Amino acid sequence: MRKRSIIQMTLVGVVVGLALAAVAFFIPWLPDAASEQADIIDSVYWVVTVICVAIFALVAGVAVYAVWKFRAAPDDMDDGSPIHGHTGLEIVWTLVPTVLVTFIAVYSGVALAQAEDLPDDHRVVEVTGEQFAWTFTYPDVELENGEPLASGELVLPVGEPVEFLITSKDVIHSFWVPEWRMKQDAVRGVTTRTVVEPSKVGTFEVICTELCGLGHAVMRSRARVLSAGDFSAWVEEQRRLAAEGGSVQGEALFSAQCASCHVLEEAGSQGQVGPNLDESLEGAEEDFVRESIVEPNATIAEGFQPDVMPQNYGELFTDEQIDGLVEYLLEATGGGGR
Ligand code: CUA
Repeated sequence: MRKRSIIQMTLVGVVVGLALAAVAFFIPWLPDAASEQADIIDSVYWVVTVICVAIFALVAGVAVYAVWKFRAAPDDMDDGSPIHGHTGLEIVWTLVPTVLVTFIAVYSGVALAQAEDLPDDHRVVEVTGEQFAWTFTYPDVELENGEPLASGELVLPVGEPVEFLITSKDVIHSFWVPEWRMKQDAVRGVTTRTVVEPSKVGTFEVICTELCGLGHAVMRSRARVLSAGDFSAWVEEQRRLAAEGGSVQGEALFSAQCASCHVLEEAGSQGQVGPNLDESLEGAEEDFVRESIVEPNATIAEGFQPDVMPQNYGELFTDEQIDGLVEYLLEATGGGGR
């Protein structure tokens, strides 16, 4: 009889365990893994998941079996028989979780140390978060005017470890590219760091993953991972655009910084977060275009909210960049009396 009970209990546990394992393994829960760190982080996920599936199957097996096996008959009004503690059992269920939790802590610690391991010779990218945009600065790429290269999109060569030095200009944000797995807070007055070695060429999304205000959900940038050759070409292109100035530079700035939120036919952009610029800037004067960039709350287009667009483009970009952007937008929308 007792042997049969144990077999039945084990069967329930195995069925529950198999069902859970199927849910865990056959549904693609995780985004694509596109960095060396992603494989390390995912291994932690899977180790923890396997442990949890086993424990849950065990507990569910015993619970389901007990509910079914020891249910009271309809006419049974008796109290259940009194039970005592079981010292052996208590030792086991204290010891097992202690060992498991310690194992998970050590495993995670080792994984994190591996993920953040960095050769001395590596690229550094400074990440600055602010309401509600990201800026990426490349301190080892100097432009003609002596300034380091700064971009609204994150562009990296594949297969090269990068150290991100992260900070914020206002509230707490958090830098995250899901396909890379590594995530780090951006805190004003503090420089945090994380390490990523992109392992796949492609376009990904940089996501702010700390609730930071009205525009949190739109605080996204593009991360593009290129081959080493394409990356060098991109850097050269950025140098050239910066040297050229004017609407050429404005166009590049637009596609990196503005396109994700605004429709502009000239740029082929489809962003729906902010007003359609072909409409709101049609035939606009230069002063209005400039004000809409550096002081966006001054005039809010109908149907839109203030404070969604970053308020500090005037500080973030050089006068030269703003001039270029204004020039580009006037050309694109037929404004400024042209
Ligand atoms: Cu920045 Cu959320």
